[in-house]
Amino acid sequence: MDISILGIPMDLGAGRRGVDMGASALRNAHLASTLRSLGHTVTDLGDVPVTVPETTDKFQDQGLVFLDEILSACSGTYQRLRDLDVGTFPISLGGDHSVSMGTVPGAARGRRTGVIWVDAHADFNTPSSSPSGNIHGMPVAHLVGLGDDRLSNIAGGWHVRPEDIVMIGLRSVDQRERELVAEAGIKTYTMKDVDQLGITRIAQETLERLSHLERLHISFDADALDPTVCPGVGTPVPGGLSYREGHLLMELFAESGRVTSLDIVEVNPILDTRNRTAEVMVGMAASLLGQRIL
Ligand code: ARG
Ligand code: MN
Ligand code: MN
Ligand code: MN
Repeated sequence: MDISILGIPMDLGAGRRGVDMGASALRNAHLASTLRSLGHTVTDLGDVPVTVPETTDKFQDQGLVFLDEILSACSGTYQRLRDLDVGTFPISLGGDHSVSMGTVPGAARGRRTGVIWVDAHADFNTPSSSPSGNIHGMPVAHLVGLGDDRLSNIAGGWHVRPEDIVMIGLRSVDQRERELVAEAGIKTYTMKDVDQLGITRIAQETLERLSHLERLHISFDADALDPTVCPGVGTPVPGGLSYREGHLLMELFAESGRVTSLDIVEVNPILDTRNRTAEVMVGMAASLLGQRIL
């Protein structure tokens, strides 16, 4: 497979600093060489330009922290990815999760695409429901066309349909956000569902629910995994996916042969232990892209 790696070194959407270094940490954890050892052709496209927060005096715009700067980074991301050959598999390296407002439409390249959101959080706040104003808690709402018009139109009129989204690993969803997820009709698997049903059944049901789609995008927030597995994240929530549950999920999605793009986001080296979180996430990417135990 032809794989292209794109970094988006941005922490403007998060409440804590440091995820801007996530792309670098993932590269240092040997992402490209690991994928090459699996037989893939890997091109690193470098990084999308992102405003350095210290160079701005602006802080808040209508409850949306760093709105203009995030809009411009997400537009840059979108334009970079949408021009890739449709057969190329893009891996986008965050950065905080607001980068997905650019990566998802970019990776879709105009095609209807399913989105598998692997995350402790639903990231389905709108500017008015958000308790924090942090845009990394809002990308999915904007991908379906809710919320702020500028953020929901980064890719022109292209949106993800709520029925084309499945969320896995949820365990921290804000009060008003819960209602929005339910109103939109998005399929969710909370950690309770993971405990009760097991990853195998959840992966099967997810692929079945999205069986009308040939192209699937996985947006993998490192905080979906338990903080004991991935300590380097800005918004850790106890009770997450185990190391093996993460791998099994990726192995089962790999077997489907339908995954066409991936985000790895919210890796925060400042809060990490010797780059462990980046190393674990490179392992997840490897399992999604063909690594097998035997
Ligand atoms: N729900 C919280 C908020 O809206 C936390 C979001 C965390 N999102 C993330 N991508 N880590 O602020
Ligand atoms: Mn997230
Ligand atoms: Mn999260
Ligand atoms: Mn719109």
